Amino acid sequence: MQTYRIAAIPADGIGLEVIPAGIEVLGTLEKITGSFRMTFETFPWGCDYYHAHGRMMPEDGLETLKAFDAIYFGAVGHPSVPDHISLWGLRLPICQGFDQYANVRPSRILPGVRSPLRDRGPGDLDWVIVRENTEGEYAGVGGRAHQGHAEEVGMEVAVFTRKGVARVMRFAFELAKKRPRRRLTLVTKSNAQRHGMVLWDAIFQETAAGYPEVATDRMLVDAATTRMVLHPETLDVLVATNLHADILSDLAAALSGSLGMGATANLNPEKKYPSMFEPIHGSAFDIMGKGIANPIGTFWSAVLMLEHLGEAAAANLLMAAIETVTSQGRCLPADLGGTATTREVTDAVCAALKH
Ligand code: IPM
Ligand code: MG
Repeated sequence: MQTYRIAAIPADGIGLEVIPAGIEVLGTLEKITGSFRMTFETFPWGCDYYHAHGRMMPEDGLETLKAFDAIYFGAVGHPSVPDHISLWGLRLPICQGFDQYANVRPSRILPGVRSPLRDRGPGDLDWVIVRENTEGEYAGVGGRAHQGHAEEVGMEVAVFTRKGVARVMRFAFELAKKRPRRRLTLVTKSNAQRHGMVLWDAIFQETAAGYPEVATDRMLVDAATTRMVLHPETLDVLVATNLHADILSDLAAALSGSLGMGATANLNPEKKYPSMFEPIHGSAFDIMGKGIANPIGTFWSAVLMLEHLGEAAAANLLMAAIETVTSQGRCLPADLGGTATTREVTDAVCAALKH
């Protein structure tokens, strides 16, 4: 039997509530399927660690994580630590250090979940956003000069490399090819951003030539937002830059019911390094400690983790259990209009698994 070693990094805010819930659900799944084993080691890295040690994770953090099959991540950020420090101290070093270049974000309106889109339900919105995850606007290139003076400058340089763009395009085409509708939409802003974004257009076209079975189209990112709202059924897989896809994926999660539903896989598709799975919602300090966080984004991220590990049957069971719970409509968390706590939603998903 396969045993997987998972590194859990709940980190901050509601990450500390949803990751233990996810581990519990995975434990139940392991028991009922009996087809794989998962061991978890939890690392106390994050903003509390930063206050104690002056860094978000130990210097050899990546070295430690390398030994694991996957990383199950909560959320990073605390009001007492500047966001760019917490982000660049933990999440980005993992994404970039482990070459997790394909960030995959599925969105669907699950049965029993009300979309804020009027008259839209399951089947009307079924997307996967593929976010370039190692370069672009998150490359960290730039600088500040003459700090504090009237002449101060701040430069944030987006970096797009042929290799970096081509590999995420190939990934997106491969994904689109395997989906029933086989459609891929390229999202850029190549009218205003006339260098890097035009490179994206060119590489998209080159890559498309190798995938005649995939229907393609192109949208500017501003127009893409209106299409997501007005014609969600016309979209299938979207591929976009680090920043554009960051923004679109929050919109996608909200349109599918709530930010709390959003799941992510940060993939190193070649499996040279561990990949990382996390809900997209962030640390949500306004609701932390109340036990009311929606754990579904974290459970859905576990589904993505199981798929990546090659446990497709277990992944399907877990997704089906999540959908059973949402479809019954009785046990929905507050962000989906219900009153269920994290504990109750977790218990309901475990019960559905055992059924
Ligand atoms: C996400 C988040 C992060 C990002 C934040 C926490 C920096 O919004 O995963 O979408 O922008 O990458
Ligand atoms: Mg985001």
